[in-house]
Amino acid sequence: MCGIVGYLGKKEAYPILINGLRRLEYRGYDSAGVALMEGDDLVVRKKEGKVKELEGMSSEETFKSIIGIGHTRWATHGAPNDANAHPHLSNSGNLALIHNGIIENYGALKEDLKHRGYSFKSDTDTEVFVNFIEDIKTSENLSLEDALRVALSKVVGAYAIAIISKENPNKLVAARKGSPLVIGLGKDEFFVASDATPIIEHTNEVIYLKDEEIAVMENGEYSIKDAKDIPQTPYIQTLEMELEAIEKSGHDHFMHKEIFEQPISIADCMRGRLNAEKGELTLGGIRNYAKALENAERIIIIACGTSWHAGLVAEYVFEDLCRIPVEVEYASEFRYRNPVIKEGDIVIAISQSGETADTLAAIELAKSKGAIVLGVVNTVGSSISRVSHEGAYLHAGPEIGVASTKAFTAQLTVLYMIALKAAFNKGTIAENRFREHLRELSLIPAKVEKALKTNDKIEEISDLFKNASNFLYLGRGYNFPVALEGALKLKEISYIHAEGYPAAEMKHGPIALIDENMPVVVIATRDSSYDKVVSNIQEVKARKGVVIAIVTEGDSLIPGMADFTIEVPATHESLMPLVSVIPLQLLSYHIAVMRGANVDQPRNLAKSVTVE
Ligand code: G6P
Repeated sequence: MCGIVGYLGKKEAYPILINGLRRLEYRGYDSAGVALMEGDDLVVRKKEGKVKELEGMSSEETFKSIIGIGHTRWATHGAPNDANAHPHLSNSGNLALIHNGIIENYGALKEDLKHRGYSFKSDTDTEVFVNFIEDIKTSENLSLEDALRVALSKVVGAYAIAIISKENPNKLVAARKGSPLVIGLGKDEFFVASDATPIIEHTNEVIYLKDEEIAVMENGEYSIKDAKDIPQTPYIQTLEMELEAIEKSGHDHFMHKEIFEQPISIADCMRGRLNAEKGELTLGGIRNYAKALENAERIIIIACGTSWHAGLVAEYVFEDLCRIPVEVEYASEFRYRNPVIKEGDIVIAISQSGETADTLAAIELAKSKGAIVLGVVNTVGSSISRVSHEGAYLHAGPEIGVASTKAFTAQLTVLYMIALKAAFNKGTIAENRFREHLRELSLIPAKVEKALKTNDKIEEISDLFKNASNFLYLGRGYNFPVALEGALKLKEISYIHAEGYPAAEMKHGPIALIDENMPVVVIATRDSSYDKVVSNIQEVKARKGVVIAIVTEGDSLIPGMADFTIEVPATHESLMPLVSVIPLQLLSYHIAVMRGANVDQPRNLAKSVTVE
């Protein structure tokens, strides 16, 4: 949510910043801007809209600055317009600041600053923030970093910021609390960014700044200090990310690429962990707390969005395999009530980005009450991976499309492996069943590959329903969370209203909506609730609803009653979500493309929600 980027080195900063902003655009795309030192001037260019609007605006200009900061915004305070776009300048024009996060006490600070003669051109908390720093700097005659340190001790909220100043044209200062910030160390050059994607083409040596640290980069050197001004020795991490992983590689959209990558991303997720032939499953990241998991009296899963749907599937899997009661919670709800958490409870936090503010806050709450937190995270080095006691990475590679696809199937795979391992060690499943599950899991990439072959048929179906105003998705058992996920995918990117429902619950409300204009997607694969779902299809048909059924290969019954059937390969019912979600991802993708929607950057959404 908001992407920030900064550069200090020997090259021209502007193209580096623009390229970096393009890479970060998935984090927010309401407006974009840059600040550069051109001679003695601190020049700001900012514009409502996407990065390309900003580029268009400055296409006639040449910028020579070797230092600069850039921002792509997802509006929190104030409408998305030119004035509210970042960077924000201080009243004197000496400081330019970019910010990802929210300053919660900005109202009081603003009033105070107004009394001290400051004026504001925007509605943002960020403009208050930069003037607050300036006020401390001038009134106490401090260096930029010292003024920043004092300011940060007085602001409440979350931030990742970068600042440049006219007074110190070769100094780049950055700090974080709550929102992510990575520093790239190149040869005689430094980068700062919200994540590693703008950095990776320049250097793979990075430092993930910790909460309340301030980094100062100047004259080819850098230093990192904590909130008490004590120098820190940072851990320099070597990134393994390939540039190709963050490019579209011939696909029209990142979402298309990521949907079709799933046979590989699921295999990557199992690589080195699962050996079906030998009957081995190793999860190195969950070693110290493996016993605690097996002996847990209950598991609480916390997540948001698509990750929450993965958690719902995991609930069924853990309860079935491990016989441990599971509760699945929206992180945002969990943290604002007074949840009962006992020492030794296991909390599994699921997050693609590893930065979701509500999930992070829920983790802190759970930890404070003595729970053990296991993170199931995709982004290496992210905040959630660092605050969790232990965890397992997805290894799905960067996911850039805002609508999550490959992260969902990787989350299911990792959660399944965690449950399987715990169940085997605990003795709630016998060795032959354990081995059978491993074998079936190892076949999933090939089955997903086959499910992707439904693409052409789904494109045809999409064409028929692209103008529908509502969709209903029904599923039961393991496929119920898939129905929720299918509906979420459709509304996120095509803006068609869609609801996911447990198939049997349809009778308690949604059935009233069904008529000949209502497409109903029913996930009706062969499993223990198949017969019941068949009855639900009949109920929809009796009310003239249009049924698009996802069925198991070779089903001869449902094609006789549904309007459209899409076949997916058979697998164990607990693994079916990995396969049955594929046609639903494709359906939402094609409908969104046909409606002319921006698939990768749907309106109002952001990939990484770093505000609460
Ligand atoms: C946003 C994204 C979703 C994602 C959710 C949770 O809403 O658009 O795709 O599922 O955040 O994000 P996380 O990174 O924690 O999985």
